[in-house]
Amino acid sequence: DYVIVNGEYIKRSEAKVDIEDRGYQFGDGVYEVIRVYNGKMFTASEHLERLIESGKKIGMEIPYTVSELKQLLVELITKNQLVLGTLYMQVTRGTSPRNHAFPAADVRPNLVVYSKEVGRPIENMQQGVKVILNEDIRWLLCDIKSLNLLGNLMAKQKAVEAGCFEAIQHRDGIVTEGSLSNISIIKDGKVITHPADNLILNGITRQKVLGICRNNDIPFAETTFTLEDLKNADEIFLSGTTVEVTPIIEIEGKKVGAGTVGPLTKKLQILFEGEIE
Ligand code: PDD
Repeated sequence: DYVIVNGEYIKRSEAKVDIEDRGYQFGDGVYEVIRVYNGKMFTASEHLERLIESGKKIGMEIPYTVSELKQLLVELITKNQLVLGTLYMQVTRGTSPRNHAFPAADVRPNLVVYSKEVGRPIENMQQGVKVILNEDIRWLLCDIKSLNLLGNLMAKQKAVEAGCFEAIQHRDGIVTEGSLSNISIIKDGKVITHPADNLILNGITRQKVLGICRNNDIPFAETTFTLEDLKNADEIFLSGTTVEVTPIIEIEGKKVGAGTVGPLTKKLQILFEGEIE
């Protein structure tokens, strides 16, 4: 397979990262994961705009426009003959002698992109997943898709060790998001999800699902909800590029609703599937 390093297509085995790349050394950079269905990127513009926004939020100017990035990615999909999978892309603040302060303006950010074949998460979507609860110990700029993922990794690992798929994080009794996905609850026919503020990543899938609600007269609200609300929810689902719309059927051993995939979650899954070309 080919990968992209700073605009060049090279073989993966030939790609190199300097030991003083700031992403490698500090996690000083931002990233995106884009889904590819039928050889086409799903919601590419939204992801690429967020990448550039994430860069801005950490004071890093990404030296590509959305359309330049799109062209690069389309070419990679073609070169790798990718049909169903993901693109991972990251931009770091560049290579420079280790120094906490940002490097001089002439240090260019480093862009890396690679593709991976991945099937859709059919089993999880059909059967639902189990989750644990975990205190949200992350920093207060979770809206940035930062390479610094230690808080998320530790949460996910805890879930895996408990035989669960995701860790649902909460801060001061308020449910925020998973380690790699957003979470919504359904109560009395209404979809409720944390507002898009600094405490969560404003997922592209989350936004897509809310758009589906809007277009299909499904009541929804972007308001905070508590651990108590979570326990009393009729249905709960995760959303994200890799999980699509995945139902949660059990929280720390306690069943959600009837412990099966609920009707509104099912409906959202079908409507989401309809968005995929
Ligand atoms: N994760 N919240 C967090 C913390 C995430 O890492 C992600 C995505 C989401 C969902 O965002 P979106 O719908 O835009 O994919 C929410 C990616 C897929 C990852 O880190 O692999």
